[in-house]
Amino acid sequence: MGAAYNYYRGNNSLIHLAVLFAAAFSSLQIVHSKLSPHYYSSSCSQAPSIVQSVVVAAIQKEARIGASLLRLHFHDCFVNGCDGSILLNDTDKFIGEQTANPNNNSIRGFHVVDDIKAQLEKACPGVVSCADILAIAARDSVVYLGGPSWTVPLGRRDSTTANRSAANTFIPAPTLNLTALISSFSAQGLALKDLVALSGSHTIGQARCTSFRGRIYNDSNIDASFARSLKRNCPMSGNDNELERLDIQTPTHFDNFYFENLVASKGLLHSDQELFNGSSTSADCLVKKYACDPHAFFKDFARAMVKMGNIKPLTGTQGQIRLHCSRVN
Ligand code: HEM
Ligand SMILES: *[C@@H]1O[C@H](CO)[C@@H](O)[C@H](O)[C@H]1NC(C)=O
Ligand SMILES: *[C@@H]1O[C@H](CO)[C@@H](O)[C@H](O)[C@H]1NC(C)=O
Ligand SMILES: *[C@@H]1O[C@H](CO)[C@@H](O)[C@H](O)[C@H]1NC(C)=O
Ligand SMILES: *[C@@H]1O[C@H](CO)[C@@H](O)[C@H](O)[C@H]1NC(C)=O
Ligand SMILES: *[C@@H]1O[C@H](CO)[C@@H](O)[C@H](O)[C@H]1NC(C)=O
Ligand SMILES: *[C@@H]1O[C@H](CO)[C@@H](O)[C@H](O)[C@H]1NC(C)=O
Repeated sequence: MGAAYNYYRGNNSLIHLAVLFAAAFSSLQIVHSKLSPHYYSSSCSQAPSIVQSVVVAAIQKEARIGASLLRLHFHDCFVNGCDGSILLNDTDKFIGEQTANPNNNSIRGFHVVDDIKAQLEKACPGVVSCADILAIAARDSVVYLGGPSWTVPLGRRDSTTANRSAANTFIPAPTLNLTALISSFSAQGLALKDLVALSGSHTIGQARCTSFRGRIYNDSNIDASFARSLKRNCPMSGNDNELERLDIQTPTHFDNFYFENLVASKGLLHSDQELFNGSSTSADCLVKKYACDPHAFFKDFARAMVKMGNIKPLTGTQGQIRLHCSRVN
């Protein structure tokens, strides 16, 4: 009996060893091909706290900057992956992404990224990528403004080029309908649930008149008094850069009111309101769920942010660690 027991136990141990070995081997492969939350734990353990302290100081100075930093990460990831390409200034070799239509006169937060990078270069020269700075700063902004937290996988490297026409092609426009929004996200490996959850980012930040003029003058699925009040600062022509809150209720608090607004036909962008038309579509059901259940929104948002942050990162020997985020080394 004892021998048999030992025999079986021995056999089980062998199986366990094999399983452990396979698991260790596949996780090694993950370390080589994908990102890891512990990427900087020996090379720059202070990195997360440095990023956080600059982000918090920037938001304390100007609440909107948290929204701007979140958007920077999104606009980076949708254009050839999360590789810091949006941060590059134009050069003789390429026209960068900052003047692409979705970014021109609208994308902001570069000075905060530059501050973070300068502090990181002092603490750990040449170690932390600009693409990772964007991913951590996005998370820290959401947390500071009252949203969910999540563990940020790290180890992205920075691109050596940028492409304005790719930014025009891949960053979705606010004029898109639901079908086109789904395609845009699906092209990045993101599902309808990710689209709806990530659109909840519009619970913070602002948009220019030029981004919602079509919505307030041409759309019929808009609350009449909401449209009327928006027309005051956003005439049929002119005042293109006049700003309005994306979430009319709490524009500097990361909550689920964005979804309440959609149910009330008070989405600011045409693309926002496309997610809810009261016909019990799959998108409608997600919007209603998130409007009623902030925890479900927070959970799905955090997961979708990690998914978005994993879009085509440069790893290993690809790209470089830029010393200045706005230019290649
Ligand atoms: C679903 C497709 C999306 C469209 C069509 C869209 C479009 C826009 C537009 C037009 C603006 C206002 C820009 C301006 O007028 O200056 C804006 C702002 C913003 N977007 Fe989106 N967006 C989308 C998804 C996302 C996602 C996925 C995120 C983040 C994960 C995001 C984060 C933000 C934030 C935080 C702002 C406010 C930025 C600020 O105040 O500086 N958006 N978006
Ligand atoms: C960016 O905006 C500026 C200022 O409005 C404008 O002069 C320029 O033509 C725009 N660039 C592009 C590429 O649209
Ligand atoms: C830039 O992006 C456009 C649109 O995706 C693509 O057609 C073009 O080949 C890219 N240019 C370079 C130099 O990669
Ligand atoms: C959505 O927009 C696309 C591109 O503009 C258009 O071809 C399509 O007919 C639209 N779909 C719906 C359902 O309106
Ligand atoms: C409103 O719709 C009309 C007709 O389709 C179009 O010509 C106009 O450009 C639209 N206005 C805005 C601000 O989108
Ligand atoms: C709502 O959107 C769905 C999907 O795009 C569409 O099939 C349906 O006809 C729309 N309902 C209304 C009332 O516009
Ligand atoms: C990139 O452009 C910005 C704005 O024009 C400027 O402040 C910054 O110094 C530039 N970066 C480099 C490395 O030249």
